[in-house]
Amino acid sequence: MRRPLVAGNWKMNTSYAEAQALAQGIRERASASPVEVVLCPPFVWLDLVRRILADTDIALGAQDVFWEDHGPYTGEVSPAQVRELCKYVIVGHSERRTLFNDTYEAVRKKCSAASAAGLVPILAVGEDAAERESGRTEEVVCAELAAALPEPPSGPIVVAYEPIWAIGRGYPADPEEAQRIARLIRSQLAQLGCDDENTPILYGGSVSAATFEGFVSQPDIDGALVGSASLDAEQFALLVEIASRTQF
Ligand code: PGA
Repeated sequence: MRRPLVAGNWKMNTSYAEAQALAQGIRERASASPVEVVLCPPFVWLDLVRRILADTDIALGAQDVFWEDHGPYTGEVSPAQVRELCKYVIVGHSERRTLFNDTYEAVRKKCSAASAAGLVPILAVGEDAAERESGRTEEVVCAELAAALPEPPSGPIVVAYEPIWAIGRGYPADPEEAQRIARLIRSQLAQLGCDDENTPILYGGSVSAATFEGFVSQPDIDGALVGSASLDAEQFALLVEIASRTQF
């Protein structure tokens, strides 16, 4: 059985004091859960949050990573550096792909380097509104998946299906449509030689407590990658509780 996973991507939010309060609030509300809980704060607060989460089961993730080990790459952070603090790293988030020019090639290199360093990549894939309207959702998701996965597959991975048109809008996708794409992702993982049965597949895009149960009760959706709702400890803990109640 796959362990459900709820990951909070804080994006470029929180001051030092806010990050401290948020991590403490989540620690109090979500540390005794059978769900794998992952917090992905900005790089600058990783060590702060790591210290707050010490002696809990809550895992830490970075929001991005570079593929080189060390060297003259001003502003970048290596997989080995991230691995000293984190278990997970988000790779290929649509904001990285669209705003920071993370190409298929860059995402593949990041994914491989993260796996090689012992990190678990949370690989985000998903179509934008125009691709969806022109009926290209399946094609885009499969292409992003195939382009990103290391060959041969090395180590565990998490895949997050995040339709770009549903991110940060307040309107999530239809849970049954998300299930159909999650099923497709699982069959693609099998074709690509990955351990499809044990790979958690998450849904992401305007996840909230009001609609989450519809997603996490789908057979191929094992949890969520959460943006806005992860910035409120109570809301986030509610999502963890819903995942726990629905899956166990
Ligand atoms: P959202 O963000 O929950 O605010 O829509 C999701 C994401 O970008 O991963």
